[in-house]
Amino acid sequence: MCGIVGMVGREDAVSYLIEGLKRLEYRGYDSAGIAVPAPGGLKTLKSVGRLSALEARQTLSPLSGPVGIGHTRWATHGEPSERNSHPHLNQKQTIAVVHNGIIENYLELKQSLLEDGVEFLSDTDTEVLTHHISRCAEGRPFLDGFRQALGDARGAYALGVIHADEPGVLYAARLGSPLIVARGPKGLFIASDVPAVLPHVTEAIYLNDGELARISDNRVEIYGLDGSTRPLVWKTIDLDDTAADAGGFETFMLKEIHEQTRVLRGLLSEYVPGGAGTVLPDLHLDAEGFAGIRRIMIVSCGTAYYAAMYGRLLIEKYTSIPVETDLGSEFRYRDPKILPGTLVIAVSQSGETADTLASIKMAKAAGCRVLSICNVAGSSLVRESDHLIYTRAGPEIGVASTKAFTAQLMAFAIFTLHAARARNEMPAEELKSLLQDLLNLPNAIHYVLGQRNEIESIAGKHHEGPSALYLGRRFNYPIALEGALKNKEISYQHAEGYAAGEMKHGPIALINEYLPVICICTDTEDEVAEKMISNVKEVQARSGRIIAIATEGETRLDGVAEDIIFVPRCREPFSPMVNVVALQLLAYYAAKARGTDIDKPRNLAKSVTVE
Ligand code: M6R
Repeated sequence: MCGIVGMVGREDAVSYLIEGLKRLEYRGYDSAGIAVPAPGGLKTLKSVGRLSALEARQTLSPLSGPVGIGHTRWATHGEPSERNSHPHLNQKQTIAVVHNGIIENYLELKQSLLEDGVEFLSDTDTEVLTHHISRCAEGRPFLDGFRQALGDARGAYALGVIHADEPGVLYAARLGSPLIVARGPKGLFIASDVPAVLPHVTEAIYLNDGELARISDNRVEIYGLDGSTRPLVWKTIDLDDTAADAGGFETFMLKEIHEQTRVLRGLLSEYVPGGAGTVLPDLHLDAEGFAGIRRIMIVSCGTAYYAAMYGRLLIEKYTSIPVETDLGSEFRYRDPKILPGTLVIAVSQSGETADTLASIKMAKAAGCRVLSICNVAGSSLVRESDHLIYTRAGPEIGVASTKAFTAQLMAFAIFTLHAARARNEMPAEELKSLLQDLLNLPNAIHYVLGQRNEIESIAGKHHEGPSALYLGRRFNYPIALEGALKNKEISYQHAEGYAAGEMKHGPIALINEYLPVICICTDTEDEVAEKMISNVKEVQARSGRIIAIATEGETRLDGVAEDIIFVPRCREPFSPMVNVVALQLLAYYAAKARGTDIDKPRNLAKSVTVE
């Protein structure tokens, strides 16, 4: 959600803080601020809106100094405004705090601070924590007071703190929200993620929950909340920084849509290295491990939840394992019956989604093994998991997920084929044929990308209406949901995804001569194709404006659909990886026509680290 950065530099820190915030802006972009120790106390600079506004203020009245903290905000407590933006200061203006997360007991703490006569300048939970840290640190070493204050706080936090009495020191702490300490030739940094400081660092420590750090020039100390010292585990950073620019595309999202052929090829070459005749490399789950799985529970949020729905269909088609899916935010608050032999699969691009993380902690406490399908190495999810399928899509900067989603679908395909073979549930010939079909997918995606101009003109005809309906069946039902989500996220056109067979149970009432109805009609292995065509005809009978995604050579939609986007023939269970690319482009060009901020849609944040 929010992004934080901090530096103890060998030169002026402010330009590094601003650069880091720019790289973190995808996490939140309603306001931003920085603070540095300066002669006579702490100095802050804040602004509402995008980071460019903060940069403009920095040009007018610059801050400087080798130590500092910065923040880009996604509002939780209090509207986006200058007074609610971080860093927050204590009353004496000797402590400044940036925070990502939510302090759940802030009202309780606020009440006791009010009783102590503290005056509040903002509506935020972070300001409450700042005053509480200040109160706890009164008359004692700051580190002790900081630790005590954190012990009193409930909720989630990644924190960066500076203190006027120790102007060369940066404090940090983590509970439930991601935070790294990193080092490089320019100095020491803290950040919400590695890409924020990637050009300047070579090694990082991933702080664990309940750890706090004291960082001074060239020295890092890490402590537990109980005061115990923790070892410094520096890890070499192995990330490519080319994702940080849009590489000639007009937006990151368009670039990331076009990267999908490469991403899927990369996954296939890792997991199917010898082509279709290959023996699949293991997933650190051996045959015995696979044989022992009696049930799978998949948890995730948002787009990753639609990947989970797809995963369920695929695993249940090709193996005998029963699969259940749930949203992280629901799973954690119901009473799931987690039976022995359940493998929990968590799906997440960021690996930091609060509800997904809380769900797997519950599952682990119930004795389950956890396999994560994740795009960020070193993320909290990866560190909590027993097994990993790393989706290797590379940093996804556009807030709306695209390449990470297709990589999640491919990860489920790879997992399913591994499981089916390891459990002796799939003949070698069938495996070979399925692998061959998987290997053909990148070319099919390439073909869809080649139709972007046609898709742009179709989007241009339909983007003005207030609403759109997306229909699909079986493997393409989750894709209808994802297509609708993409459209509403970036174009702000209201969109509903529905199982086509459910249309007559309600949404058919919406259909009139103005409603665009996007129908995924690609070929299926059985009568489902016929059923889908019948649903399309029902839309036609009510004068809906049909945009069909259909297999090349399909003629049954002639004279029925107003527009058809043709895609290459694929085996139905794998067709979602191709069809979704057409829907991503359709949403993209609708958003472009509507003039929205495609990479940073309003109200959204890339990684949802609060529940
Ligand atoms: O990082 P995660 O995959 O766990 O994120 C889950 C959702 O927040 C995310 O997919 C969200 O729905 C995106 N905005 C989708 O485009």
